[in-house]
Amino acid sequence: MQTSLSINQQSYTLDVDPEMPLLWALRDNLRLTGTKYGCGLGICSACMVLVDGEIERACLLKVGECANKEIFTIEGFPKDGSHPIQKAWQDLNVPQCGYCQSGQMIATKALLDKNPQPSVEEIQMALAENVCRCGTYPRIVKAIRSIGEGN
Ligand code: FES
Ligand code: FES
Repeated sequence: MQTSLSINQQSYTLDVDPEMPLLWALRDNLRLTGTKYGCGLGICSACMVLVDGEIERACLLKVGECANKEIFTIEGFPKDGSHPIQKAWQDLNVPQCGYCQSGQMIATKALLDKNPQPSVEEIQMALAENVCRCGTYPRIVKAIRSIGEGN
C-alpha cells in the first residue's frame, strides 16, 4: 500500500506495509540513516524524530500513522552545520561515540522550540529518556545552556 510522507519538507511515496515501523522506512527504504536503531523497544531514544513538532520514537511509530504529518529527522538540520544546536555540539565537542546524538539533538530541538532558555533542571527533565552509554550528559547540558545564553 502506498503511503505519502513529508520528511524534512520533502515529499516521499513509499510502497510498504503501513504497519512497518517508521524507523525501518527511514533507514532501509529512504536511506536516512542518521536516525539510529538502539533498543527497538522505545527505551533508548536513539531513534527520536519530530512528528508535527512533537518527539516520537521512530521504532514504535508505524509508517501508516505518519501519513500527512511533517516529520523532522537529523538530516533536516542544515548541511553546513549552521544551526545553533549543531554549532554548540561542535563547539563543546559533545559527542563521544555519537550513536545517541541524533536523538539528543532532536530532543534538544523539541525543547528549544518551546523553551529557548531552559534551566538545567528543565534540560535534564526534557532529555531524561535519551540514553547515552558514553555519559555525555554534562556536555549536552552545557551545550544547550550555551545556546540559551546566545553562545
Ligand atoms: S531504538 Fe527506538 S527507543 Fe531505542
Ligand atoms: S555519545 Fe556514545 S552513546 Fe552517547
